[in-house]
Amino acid sequence: MDVHAEPSPPAAGLASAAAPQRLRSIEELPGPRGWPLVGNLPQVRMARIHQDMERWSRQYGPLFRVRLGPTRLLVVADHVIVNALLRDRPDGFRRSSRLREVGIEMGGTPGLFSAEGDAWRQQRRMVMASFTPGHIRAFLPQLRAVTSRLQERWRKAAQAGVWIDLQADLKRFTVDAIAGLAFGTEVNTLESGDDVIQRHLDIVLSGLYRRVMSPLPYWRWIRLPADRQLERSNAAVRKAIEGFVAAARDRMQADPTLHEHPRNLLEAMLAAADAGDAGVDDRDVAGNVSTMLFAGEDTTANTLAWLIWLLHRHPDALGRAQLEVREAVPDLAALTLERVEALHYLDACASEAMRLKPVAPFLGIEALRDTTIADIRVPARTLVWCVMRRDSVDDRYFQNAAAFEPARWLGDAAAAKRIAMPFGSGPRICPGRYLALLEIKLAMTMLLGNFEVIAVDTPDGGEAREVMHFTMNPVGLRMRLRERPN
Ligand code: HEM
Repeated sequence: MDVHAEPSPPAAGLASAAAPQRLRSIEELPGPRGWPLVGNLPQVRMARIHQDMERWSRQYGPLFRVRLGPTRLLVVADHVIVNALLRDRPDGFRRSSRLREVGIEMGGTPGLFSAEGDAWRQQRRMVMASFTPGHIRAFLPQLRAVTSRLQERWRKAAQAGVWIDLQADLKRFTVDAIAGLAFGTEVNTLESGDDVIQRHLDIVLSGLYRRVMSPLPYWRWIRLPADRQLERSNAAVRKAIEGFVAAARDRMQADPTLHEHPRNLLEAMLAAADAGDAGVDDRDVAGNVSTMLFAGEDTTANTLAWLIWLLHRHPDALGRAQLEVREAVPDLAALTLERVEALHYLDACASEAMRLKPVAPFLGIEALRDTTIADIRVPARTLVWCVMRRDSVDDRYFQNAAAFEPARWLGDAAAAKRIAMPFGSGPRICPGRYLALLEIKLAMTMLLGNFEVIAVDTPDGGEAREVMHFTMNPVGLRMRLRERPN
């Protein structure tokens, strides 16, 4: 499918694009002037590259070119075109092959996130079957138990009057949640000491990002201390994954009916691998266990951290969310899915946080064949950089776009959802989005229902800075709480 900039519905206010007269090459596009050999590399900072691209998209328009060392990029920032490209998968576009190469080089196996073609189709069916709302509904009691453990951790911190390392605690919460749902394992990092798997996941994720974005594979020639730490953490994560798989195998041996009726994603994958189903073997199982850990931990934890920071800075919105939670769910133990789903304002707060602070502010895809995008000729293997946060923070599409105004998501938000796409779009849209929103609502219900947020601070006391380590993190948030009297 060739993709063209289609006029948006008038409500969204996109200026209509005229039919292309003549196809342009990528070289003819505007873009920042680069240097010989290195191109635009000296002008970007890898930890803030999303902001560099967003800035350039305001300067050069929705379609421009960038060169990072030997790699030429076509950058697309128009939500209509981005949406169409993301929908044209897996046949027209794939994820960037760089991610897959680096992952394999680090000893990993592609899971759903980096699988392609038929292997992706097969794995996607299995993952979706394990992430249905029905499965997640059945998991609610366990998720409530994980949330209570976070509450207990925060209660102790509140009583001791100490600062809470917000992201670290939220990552413990999200790892415990995903391990319970997808692997049937109680890892309980919320009640463990310091050497938890999250620490290693963090190091592996940022190492993976650093290598994917590196213009040269320097680590093949010299190993820096960071590379040696990366190898150690990689080995620790792999060991944990082997542990999850072995535990599931033991359960299935003890109860062979689990082959017919697997209770979670890991059991379903092992049953398929044992049955010799096309496209799934033991390596895919391990690949998907690590994919779920990586994809489910950082994203949800950082979204929660951004949401808490934004709410703390907007006392009116915080007050309204507190009121809603305290009226609708006075007690975590009494929480049902129906009650969670009725928390419309909290839901709107999450959507607004993800509009302003999407943890995936860009997506990299690669053309699988010669194609055209708008009026641009795009050869096969071209890397296309999709800027996910340009139109979603533009006054042409959202009134007072820079402001945190959750109420804009109440009522019919269909048009807004086509512009802000925090979970991506099309056939590869995030399969964990329903779980992520549930985790977010449970954690927020617990926080707002039981505590007063006294402070959410950054290291320098200013705005929370954005830094890319695979996902977009707020730098160093810490929080202080006071318990609410019963
Ligand atoms: C707020 C939390 C989350 C956000 C913002 C988020 C965002 C995303 C985005 C932007 C993508 C790429 C979609 C695309 O290419 O169109 C994605 C893919 C994916 N996400 Fe999430 N995610 C979140 C939570 C989760 C959770 C909790 C899980 C796992 C349980 C998960 C598992 C995945 C997987 C496996 C993929 C790859 C899907 C595929 O390629 O078919 N995500 N996510």
